[in-house]
Amino acid sequence: MAKWLENAIFYEIYPQSFNDTNGDGIGDFQGIIEKLDYIKDTGFNAIWMNPCFDSPFGDAGYDVRDYKKTAARYGTNEDLKRLFDECHKRDMHILLDLVPGHTSVEHEWFKKSMLPEINEYTDRYIWTNNIWEQPEGLNCIRGISDRDGSAAVNFFSSQPALNYGYAQPKFAYQQKPTDPGPMSTRAAIKDVMKFWLDMGCDGFRVDMAGSLVKCDPEYKETIKLWQDITGYLKSEYPEAAMVSEWGEPQYSLAGGFDMDFLLHFGPEGYNSMFRCAEPFFSKRGKGTPKIFAEQYIANYEKAKAGGGLICIPSGNHDMDRLARGRDWDELKCCFAFLLTMPGAPFVYYGDEIGMNYVEGLTSVEGGYNRTGSRTPMQWDSTANDGFSSADKTQLYIKQDDSPDRPTVEKQKLDTDSLYNEIIKLIKLRNENTALHNLSEFEFVSYDGYPLVYRRKSAEQELLICINPCGDDKSFTDNEELGEIVYSLGENAAVSGRTVNIPASGAVFVSIKNK
Ligand code: NOJ
Repeated sequence: MAKWLENAIFYEIYPQSFNDTNGDGIGDFQGIIEKLDYIKDTGFNAIWMNPCFDSPFGDAGYDVRDYKKTAARYGTNEDLKRLFDECHKRDMHILLDLVPGHTSVEHEWFKKSMLPEINEYTDRYIWTNNIWEQPEGLNCIRGISDRDGSAAVNFFSSQPALNYGYAQPKFAYQQKPTDPGPMSTRAAIKDVMKFWLDMGCDGFRVDMAGSLVKCDPEYKETIKLWQDITGYLKSEYPEAAMVSEWGEPQYSLAGGFDMDFLLHFGPEGYNSMFRCAEPFFSKRGKGTPKIFAEQYIANYEKAKAGGGLICIPSGNHDMDRLARGRDWDELKCCFAFLLTMPGAPFVYYGDEIGMNYVEGLTSVEGGYNRTGSRTPMQWDSTANDGFSSADKTQLYIKQDDSPDRPTVEKQKLDTDSLYNEIIKLIKLRNENTALHNLSEFEFVSYDGYPLVYRRKSAEQELLICINPCGDDKSFTDNEELGEIVYSLGENAAVSGRTVNIPASGAVFVSIKNK
């Protein structure tokens, strides 16, 4: 694993919505460069940036038209290189978003693969052998070219699936992962990775990483494929990091990924904490961390054995904003948890100031219900909250215009703000070795409220108690407790082995003599 991941704290940037410096209503690379000091001062030392490549933007850039060229609206390849360099100058790292599962229908590879004559790209995508045959288990594109076949799609109808083969080919059109077509797709993706790593990026967040080999229920062939790619990367670029969008660490980490995210799809543990009818993180106090904890325990052991990390994101461009339906106390409590768990924390842009989900927006660039989580960043009290000098009607997505919407400026000035609490929590994480990404972790109590766990390093042991519900709670440990190193809420107290955890609060206590 790349050394820098040991203390990485990530900030996810959706480039469209972050900071516009040329007044066209859409964010750009220069805008990110100008905010790097803000990101660093908040405590983040690593960035994941959503796709920034040439694209017709039918899925906000997850429909790539040219993997080796940036989208003009963000800047040139040279500007992106400058962003890499500016990050490195500040001792920060940056991951690009790699979309290996599909391209846009407008990609040159797909255009050539649509030709009826056999050519270099004939097997780059999954095509059936005649137009009336559907690819097994997948939607398809058909009737748009003279090639007599149907092309499988991976996500939206404009995103044809690249061909990495089938785990167990059953039909004539299905190829083995090691057949020449799938092998040349694999080589092409390695070449794309090499291109950006040579330019200075520090690795990739990999889109739909589990989707490459088709009809592979246990992911055996997908894991082998990733082992080949990550193995190549580790030998050529040992400091490059690979994070998978897979949501099942038991598979992704076996494929050689350094980290995997827990996600809103896949096992329900993550949603049960934040996004369900009665989440654990709510003053209503009707949730439980049990489902999450049981899944986490099983995966954590495997992750540790494989030397990988499990990341719990505050949100991302596909999920409802963390702030949706939550008040400030509840949000602070979420971050007391997110910033004390092992693995590298990931905070979605704007979550650090509690940006809200904007209701009722018309879909932008394939966002649909996700559009409300992708609105322009709210910086200050100038026009368009400092996001852009464009006319309001020209903004990429309509901005939150509720009168009490947060901005960075307001939150910086308010000593009691979510933003200032997050700064405090990140500082605490950095200063206490027990809270570092790789330090030990163990659940102590996870049935209802409070949630209690231990973090431990060679020098230190901390008991972390998180109580999102609306009533004070107490917890008695089997160890002598020491000092409170952090508390959230009124009246936190420790006496002997017992901790009092305020309503919608948290208490971190050192263990005596450790
Ligand atoms: C997952 C991405 O996060 C999402 O935004 C995208 O629409 C799909 N993959 C398809 O690439």
